[in-house]
Amino acid sequence: MLTLKQTDRIVVLTGAGISAESGIPTFRDAMEGLWSEFEPEELATLSAFKKNPKLVLDWYEWRIKAFVDKAIPNPAHMALVKWEEYFDHFTLITQNVDGLHIKAGNKNVIEFHGNIKRMKCLGHNHKFAWIRDGEEIPLCSVCNSMLRPDVVFFNELIDSENLQAANKAVRNCDVFFAVGTSGVVYPAAGYIEVAQKLGARTCVVNTDPHYPSSKRDPTVFLRGKAGEVLPNIPLE
Ligand code: APR
Repeated sequence: MLTLKQTDRIVVLTGAGISAESGIPTFRDAMEGLWSEFEPEELATLSAFKKNPKLVLDWYEWRIKAFVDKAIPNPAHMALVKWEEYFDHFTLITQNVDGLHIKAGNKNVIEFHGNIKRMKCLGHNHKFAWIRDGEEIPLCSVCNSMLRPDVVFFNELIDSENLQAANKAVRNCDVFFAVGTSGVVYPAAGYIEVAQKLGARTCVVNTDPHYPSSKRDPTVFLRGKAGEVLPNIPLE
């Protein structure tokens, strides 16, 4: 049984599973049709972008148009908006780049892997909303370098500000939730163990009955769809 009180310091880590009910496929599941001919490394690495910026931008723009722009937050996202209003200390760390937590209304969100609707320049990381529509490769209006998606490509490091903010929240939390994430991509995957070692209660929400592995045995495992489980977790 999981009892939560208003003064608990809460951290929620979310992954692709929470967006599944909003119709957003994972990176690999989106590699359908024409995109199935490519390897992920040809579409989402810095060297791929430098070699063929048009291809990489087309891939991101296609996902924005096919899924992200059409998606609306589901009951799991909305439950977390209520949690942020209810708890005195609430931090949301998301590995999703779809922006759905912010669209839903959450404010203290660490977009750990970036945001697919933003671009940043190769020269100085100047940030912009996604401004491309079609063929051209947009350039930074400040320094004239090429604009790339503002996401963490494979093999790239997490933005240091995001990493520090997430580390701090995890190390100081009373309750840690891992929702809809397979827990294989580090450093986010390590947070549940860090929280446990420092004495936090932990809870995994996942549809997969084989999750968690024994090395990451959570205090509480709630099996089911995030959109059904989260709205039913009682707040005192
Ligand atoms: N509710 C809860 N859990 C779900 C649901 C759902 N409706 N649907 C799927 N799941 C679970 C799956 O069982 C799986 O454990 O969500 C998890 C999704 O795992 P992944 O697809 O590996 O996504 P994630 O953990 O976010 O991956 C981390 O890896 O591919 C990279 O950068 C990408 O951010 C991503 C990172």
